[in-house]
Amino acid sequence: MLAAMGVGAAAAALPGRAEAANRVPEEAWAPKPALNPSFADAGRAVTAERTNAEYNNFYEFGSHKGIYRAAQQLRTDPWTIVIDGEVSKPMEIGMEDLLAKMPIEERIYRHRCVEAWSMVAPWIGFELRHLMALVEPTSKARYVRMETLADRDTMPGLRQHWYPWPYTEGLPAAEAAHPLSFMVVGAYGKVLHKQFGAPMRLHVPWKYGFKLLKSINRISFVEERPVGFWEELQGAEYGFWANVNPEFDHPRWTQAEERVLGTGDKIPTQLYNGYAEEVAGLYKDMDQSSRELWF
Ligand code: MTE
Repeated sequence: MLAAMGVGAAAAALPGRAEAANRVPEEAWAPKPALNPSFADAGRAVTAERTNAEYNNFYEFGSHKGIYRAAQQLRTDPWTIVIDGEVSKPMEIGMEDLLAKMPIEERIYRHRCVEAWSMVAPWIGFELRHLMALVEPTSKARYVRMETLADRDTMPGLRQHWYPWPYTEGLPAAEAAHPLSFMVVGAYGKVLHKQFGAPMRLHVPWKYGFKLLKSINRISFVEERPVGFWEELQGAEYGFWANVNPEFDHPRWTQAEERVLGTGDKIPTQLYNGYAEEVAGLYKDMDQSSRELWF
């Protein structure tokens, strides 16, 4: 798979490098996909790779931020994605075959967690709408439901039986088809780090991070609105829409500000995480004063 992704052998096991590889993998994309000039500047400095790679949410590997070591157990090769439901061309496709069909680029995106921390990541990936074009959703495909790998052998978090595994999330089809909705397959010029949700995770930059599921192995187009992992667990705090809005507090904390990882700075949170110009139109017919849109 790495060969198919055009990955160099730079990380070939050199003695003494195992520890470094554990934290920050070194498999570079070669050649590195071009940076999309429309997303070259996220208005803030890119978060240092190590900072980003050592502060993660990935409950399959534990319910704390230091899961990066445990996440190295994730097996990503081979990796198959099932795309099914309300589509004309359902398929089960290997990761490398999918990548070969997708236009891959780099984008620098802001990333805002519902827990009020944020970072800026240089992602490598492709627009979700290109994947949708492959399978041709039917008129009944009102929502997209995505699912994460759930492997008991490698994911100790799955023993926490009170969580509704597998981790799932969903989006309305119109959000999924928006050009900002991005499937991430790399970061920092490298193949996607396991703790970031290798080999493929979602990034929809105007939503809180819990919508952005990792290690996706199933994408289903459905008629009924899906209920995601966090909504099922605690719907009053983590809803379906989860669009970033500093004026609507989480029931237990303010969303007015965010802590920038790696700097200690606190900065004001922006409406739709700063992407209002691009995405506010998606919601023009919805009641902007309703909490539902923001949780
Ligand atoms: N995806 C899976 N499969 N499992 C998770 O626990 N956590 C989510 C999201 N995707 C999560 C997940 C949450 S709460 C956030 S904030 C982001 O991943 C964190 O992404 P990061 O670790 O790359 O910052």
